[in-house]
Formats: sequence, C-alpha cells, structure tokens
Amino acid sequence: MIDGDAAPQQPDIILCPGGPMLLRGDHVVQSPDGTSARTTRPVSAVCRCGKSASQPWCDGTHKVIPRKDLP
Ligand code: FES
Repeated sequence: MIDGDAAPQQPDIILCPGGPMLLRGDHVVQSPDGTSARTTRPVSAVCRCGKSASQPWCDGTHKVIPRKDLP
C-alpha cells in the first residue's frame, strides 16, 4: 500500500522477462489447482513458465526453455 504521494523504495513484485516473478516480503501464492504456499524468504521467485518441478517456485528450468515460448 502506498501512503499519500510516497512511492515505495523497492517494489514488492518484479516480473523478470522470460523468468520468474520475484516477491519481496510476506505473500501467499495460490496455484491454479487451489493450493496455497506462503513465502518464507526475504525474496521468493514464483515460476511463470509452468515448467518448474517445484511449483509454485522457480527452480531455474526457464533458463533451458526457448525464450520464444516464455511469457
Ligand atoms: S520461471 Fe523459472 S522455472 Fe519457471
């Protein structure tokens, strides 16, 4: 939440082109199947390519996927 005109120093959410979504701080991530996972690290990487073996978290698999197939 932004108070008044003050912008946050660092965004809570960063979208990495061709890679994960980085979440800063405490969040709950809900998977398409309805399961939920809470972030446990200062910065957590959420998979956006759908290929991670440790959903909903990024395991780096996006690095071996052809870039044209990534969001
Ligand atoms: S975004 Fe990294 S494995 Fe999917």
